[in-house]
Amino acid sequence: MIFALESSCDETAVAVFDPAKGFVTELVHSQITLHESYGGVVPDLASREHLAHFGPLVKRALTVVDAGAITKIAVTNGPGLAACLAMGVATAKSLGLAWGVPVIGVNHLRAHAFSTFIPLHTENPAAFEEEFAKLLPHLGLLVSGGNTILFSLDEARQIRLLATTMDDAAGEALDKGAKLLGLGYPGGPQVEKIALSGNVNAFEFPKAVAQRSSLEFSFSGLKTSLRYQLEKMQPEEIERRRADLCASYQNAVFNALVRKSKLALERGAYRSFGLSGGVANNKTLQAQLDSVARGQNISFLRALPRHTGDNAGMIAFAAWAERETGGVNETNYALEIAPSLPLALAVS
Ligand code: KG4
Repeated sequence: MIFALESSCDETAVAVFDPAKGFVTELVHSQITLHESYGGVVPDLASREHLAHFGPLVKRALTVVDAGAITKIAVTNGPGLAACLAMGVATAKSLGLAWGVPVIGVNHLRAHAFSTFIPLHTENPAAFEEEFAKLLPHLGLLVSGGNTILFSLDEARQIRLLATTMDDAAGEALDKGAKLLGLGYPGGPQVEKIALSGNVNAFEFPKAVAQRSSLEFSFSGLKTSLRYQLEKMQPEEIERRRADLCASYQNAVFNALVRKSKLALERGAYRSFGLSGGVANNKTLQAQLDSVARGQNISFLRALPRHTGDNAGMIAFAAWAERETGGVNETNYALEIAPSLPLALAVS
């Protein structure tokens, strides 16, 4: 069984995964209320919180699993906030030494990339390898508050970075747009809710894409265009037309994700398309990308809501799924933190 720890940002998480059966437990302590009043994550406070919460979470996990059954410890060693990563890695090494088991470093972004395959494992652990192989090569879209990444996963389970954003991430664009519209943080879920009663064609925002033929994303112009639009409007009008503004703005962000995903799918012979990261919770985006995959006659996969944010379940799963790919760090008790760890080294 794999015992996993995650502390790359403001979530302290622990999970136990049995490759033959699935998750035994998944625990998360969120610090969101602590950082809310500061308008963002304060690294020093976040690391102290990890220090305070890892002990109790590990203890809780050990009420449902015997430490003697743990064969491996998996921990996020990057990318993330240095002081936060250090808490998880230090805890993992201590547990590894105490239990006499190896400690594996997992790349947080790669764990997101593999998170869309977790439901396939849950459905039938014994058939996972066979079913997984049928879905490769795979195109993945990872969209969160910090990343917008298109990547491919080939038959040998190697990840290749295809495109990223030249400026803001998609979630960041939604959060910044929401702030301009006077909504709270995180803005993505609020924009989604308000947009449901708005008209996507009410306002015209620039297409949030770089060159037509490029797969790269660019969202900063879109945010500026929303600012200019709002400057032209009276507060009462903004209030009255908030739903239309949210719908049109969100649609512009998603249009870029849809267009570039379609372009990437047309350029490769993919057998599945996956959506992961915090923005993957958006039902409008899910429906749009599901229809893109249908258009290509391939399977659409998405991460479960509990695996879209920071969590230890996906860390355990990636440690297992990447056990033979070279995607995990096996330096064991010498494991170091890697705050700027990239998704993949290869860029095509
Ligand atoms: O992966 P995640 O939890 O964390 C970081 O990247 O740190 O993603 C958070 C992002 C935020 O930008 C948030 O606004 C966005 O995911 N998000 C959503 C939704 N739920 C979370 N965006 C659009 N619609 C949602 N339902």
